[in-house]
Amino acid sequence: MTAADTAAGTARGMFIAFEGGEGAGKSTQAVRLTEQLRSRGLVAHLTREPGATPAGAELRKLLLDREWLVTPPVAEALLFLADRNVHVEQVISPRLADGQVVVCDRYSLSTFVYQGLGRGLDLEFLSAANWWASNGLQPDLTILLDIDPQVGLVRAAQAGRLNRIDREPVEFHQRIRQGFLDLADTGRGLVVIDAAQDVDTVAAQVLHAVDRAAADIVCARPAEPGLTG
Ligand SMILES: Nc1ncnc2c1ncn2[C@@H]1O[C@H](COP(=O)(O)OP(=O)(O)OP(=O)(O)O)[C@@H](O)[C@H]1O
Ligand SMILES: [Mg+2]
Repeated sequence: MTAADTAAGTARGMFIAFEGGEGAGKSTQAVRLTEQLRSRGLVAHLTREPGATPAGAELRKLLLDREWLVTPPVAEALLFLADRNVHVEQVISPRLADGQVVVCDRYSLSTFVYQGLGRGLDLEFLSAANWWASNGLQPDLTILLDIDPQVGLVRAAQAGRLNRIDREPVEFHQRIRQGFLDLADTGRGLVVIDAAQDVDTVAAQVLHAVDRAAADIVCARPAEPGLTG
């Protein structure tokens, strides 16, 4: 969340995003974290991009499942951003305002990396468009699950799910991985975890990162009820 959000009182919960390439374990870890937070008595909402709203579900089908779709990169970016706008407005912001923890499987970094570095769109354009689509809402913590795409794509294929973007050549996915890592070098509030480790080890590191970020938020907002449960 941004300082402006906090000052305006529009966001009081905690917003955690998982990012990374295909098969890195984002969905697995997002579920694990949400369950862990709920077991501490917190109200945690698990969501994802694209496709978390009725409109978003239609956009997801269009973006990921339609083999016939030949999307010019700008159109692809705008469809993802349309999904984000509905998602932020209808799902994420209301829950943060209610003090909930929102765990999101992919968010803005995926736009910068896939549509910017992957498709070659201008990063300044994407940044401005993303700000507009997301109402400037940024995660309190972004967890980047880093994995060699050769490993991640095998995992995703074994799970029986390779979508339109997964089927891009491996060089595309290598560029995506490097793009995430480069952003991690510059980005604040971003923690990189080695996703080649076993599920329990990754989950423990995720929880540690969340506890550290939550402690920072509690320090910054002493009047708020504890996020760490
Ligand atoms: N740390 C891990 N070690 C081995 N296998 C894993 C690990 N984490 C997840 N998996 C398995 O790899 C597959 C992909 O995991 P998951 O769906 O969580 O990845 P994802 O990052 O959400 O992928 P996608 O980008 O395709 O949505 C699943 O079958 C999952 O059980
Ligand atoms: Mg997933």
